[in-house]
Parts: sequence; structure tokens; C-alpha cells
Amino acid sequence: MPNKALTSSTLAIPEVGVVPSHIAIVMDGNGRWARQRLLPRVAGHRKGVEAVRRTVEACMAMGVQSLTLFAFSSENWRRPSDEVSVLMKLFLKALKTDVRKMAKEGIRLRIVGDTSAFNEELRHAIAESENLTLSNTRFNLNIAANYGGRWDILNATRLMLKANPLLANQPETIREEHLAPYLALADQPEPDLYIRTGGEQRVSNFLLWQLAYTEFYFTERFWPEFGKEMLLEAVRSYNQRERRFGRTSEQLHQASRASAS
Ligand code: FPP
Repeated sequence: MPNKALTSSTLAIPEVGVVPSHIAIVMDGNGRWARQRLLPRVAGHRKGVEAVRRTVEACMAMGVQSLTLFAFSSENWRRPSDEVSVLMKLFLKALKTDVRKMAKEGIRLRIVGDTSAFNEELRHAIAESENLTLSNTRFNLNIAANYGGRWDILNATRLMLKANPLLANQPETIREEHLAPYLALADQPEPDLYIRTGGEQRVSNFLLWQLAYTEFYFTERFWPEFGKEMLLEAVRSYNQRERRFGRTSEQLHQASRASAS
């Protein structure tokens, strides 16, 4: 893993750089992109895979450490079954096509979410891809699939109690540090920047815990149009934010004067 010290944004003040360490993206608007062109929705998802490749490349070139993409939410099963099935096939195909290149380029791929719901072939491809890229440390690519922020917190709670059953008898002793190691992405910094394409301004049950102090950036543009320029625009906007983590603006200025002297 790239070696940035891990800090919980609610327990300590994390290090903030010009380049976000971790970017999380909700890739929305594939269907509308396709509809505008009188194409079937799945054509938008196919174009979306190209945008994923451009975004990974641009993040790596910029020096981002981790990118987390919301590919399929725990609520996306509610979509028409043929669209769900195309999304699964696209996902499988992308894994098979791209994993060797990822392994070579130093990308560690992880699929976060309840993968037990996927079919045998997809689960096998996921395990194989994760294994093949396991020792890579240059860049973390996390694909959230059958992921939900509430699932993540519940799953972590179950794992925490399984590992430390005595905590159940002393709930007042449970602290953030007990739960945090069992959450998805526990070994990576919390996202600095959350981007959502497609014009909607909501979280949609994405990384509920991990987004505690993340900066949000929304764009009307659809995901299939996303690439380097739009990413740079989002990072420019991010760089104009004052990340106070609960402090006052005056405290922030005092702290930066002290570190400069
Ligand atoms: C949201 O657009 C997009 C999705 C639910 C799927 C995202 C999937 C991909 C980009 C392709 C596969 C990804 C990987 C990582 C290989 P929408 O369908 O909700 O669009 P709409 O809001 O315009 O209908």
C-alpha cells in the first residue's frame, strides 16, 4: 500500500496535500448519456468503462494513491434484470481484459462490497484479479460492487464482535478504533474528494462512514464524458476549499503560520 500515515478524520487532523490522496467517484449518468444519443442504456455503461480507464490513468499521472469507484450499489438489484445482467457481464469482461495490464502497472485492485451475491464465474474472476495484483503498491483501485455504506458498517460491526466477543458485554467501552479496522478500505486514507457526475447531489449509500470530512464536487456532465480535464477541474475546485475538520478558520491560519516559522 502507498505509505501515507492513516488518520481518522474524527480522531485527529489528517495531512492535506494539493493532490488528493484518495478520490471516490459515483459514476452517474450512463443511461441519460445513451438516451440523449437514442442508444440503449447499456451503450452508456459500455462507454462508462472507457471513462473508468481514462480516470485511472489520469489519477495515477497526478499522484493520487487511491481511487474508489461506485460500480454497483446494493440497491442497483432493483433495476430491470437484463440491465443487471449486462452490468455483470461488462464487469467480468473488464476484469478479464484489464487485470494483466493493472498487474504490470503497479495497480492493486480490490472489489469492495458483498461479493457473495455474485455468480460463481464472477466471484472466481474477482478472487483471481485481486490475487494477481495483491503485492502492488503504486496505486489502489477499489471497485465498489454490491456495496452499500450501511452494509459496510453492519458488516464491520459483525466482524468486530466476532473477533472481540467480550465487547458485546461492555458496549460503553466500544470506540471508533475498535470498529474502523473492519470497514472496507480500512488500510487506505479516507477520501479527500468525492465526485459525482450526472447532476444529482446525493450520497446514495456510498462510503457513509469514510466520507465524514470529504469534500464534495458535483458536475452535470455524464460519466461517459468524464476524463482528465474534468478530473483536473474537480481537483482545482478541491484546492479552493478550506478543510477545517471542525476547527475555526483562525485556528487553521495560526497552525499554518506556526508550521511556516
Ligand atoms: C450509473 O448510471 C452507473 C451505474 C449504475 C453503473 C456504472 C458502471 C460502469 C461505469 C461500467 C462498469 C464499471 C467497471 C468498474 C468496469 P445510471 O445507469 O444510473 O445512469 P442514469 O442515471 O442516467 O440512468
